[in-house]
Amino acid sequence: MQKDLLKLLDLTPADITKILDTADQMKYNQKHSLTHHYLEGKTLAMIFEKNSTRTRVSFETGMYQLGGHALFLSGKESQIGRGEPIEDTARVLSRYCDGIMIRTYGQEEVETLAKYASIPVINGLTDFAHPCQVLADLMTIREHKSRLEGLKLCYIGDGNNMTNSLIVGGLKVGMEVSVACPEGYDPDPKVLEFAQNCGGKFTLCRDPKEAAAGADAMFTDVWASMGQEGEAQARRAVFEGVYQINSELMALTNPGCMVQHCLPAHRGEEITAEVFEAHANEIFDEAENRLHAQKAVMYLLMGEQ
Ligand code: CP
Ligand code: NVA
Repeated sequence: MQKDLLKLLDLTPADITKILDTADQMKYNQKHSLTHHYLEGKTLAMIFEKNSTRTRVSFETGMYQLGGHALFLSGKESQIGRGEPIEDTARVLSRYCDGIMIRTYGQEEVETLAKYASIPVINGLTDFAHPCQVLADLMTIREHKSRLEGLKLCYIGDGNNMTNSLIVGGLKVGMEVSVACPEGYDPDPKVLEFAQNCGGKFTLCRDPKEAAAGADAMFTDVWASMGQEGEAQARRAVFEGVYQINSELMALTNPGCMVQHCLPAHRGEEITAEVFEAHANEIFDEAENRLHAQKAVMYLLMGEQ
């Protein structure tokens, strides 16, 4: 494992498997009330420049369950919001804490933070990637299907941070990945370049029906991500009526196909209320698994094994 978790492109397939196996163990410990204070006395600084419910609560709770402590730093209320360079924030936090989790806009900000920090940095979402979410997603699919290799993962919608991380994560664990995005809303070119070198396991198309055929796990995400609020209306005009997981699309998938959503979900937009509720158990397992997957990441990066 590297010092940081910045994006799934940096991980080997073996790293991902190790995180997923450790996450299963973390979940077992938690469910059986087994003490697992692997990070006793350690502190995680959590920098949030965007909103969050799941990421904040799962990291803070996870750190507590590992015997450590997490502290919340709002971008606006800390000196970051007044322009203190990220290079200096990195070096200051490295003198107090044992790890940093950051949710922000540009991926380069997270990469710079990691370069200047002597402690592990974890990406809690950027415009480019959402690696912690996708580790939880892979954990959830493996839990429900008992395997990942050979299954087909399909994503319908905007080619955003979730799409980028799902493509890389899915392909690295040996899944087939199909994506349907409208023209002009494709995933990041670096991700497409990686995907196109994965031995024909990746397809990108415009038609959700084509992408969904034979899928084992269907994913979608909001049409306008955090930071794109001003584009919401224009995006709606492009996505509406086509880029939605609904029962007609589900009819084309494999029997027992799962539905996953990182949340928050907009019912009636990227997913119908009917499909969401029919798969609510899988979707909230996915939300729960953020806790276990991130505890695994923190233990592997910040603990002494
Ligand atoms: N899925 C996810 O990252 O949720 P939050 O924005 O609530 O953290
Ligand atoms: N693509 C979404 C994911 C939220 C968890 C966003 O960036 O807002």
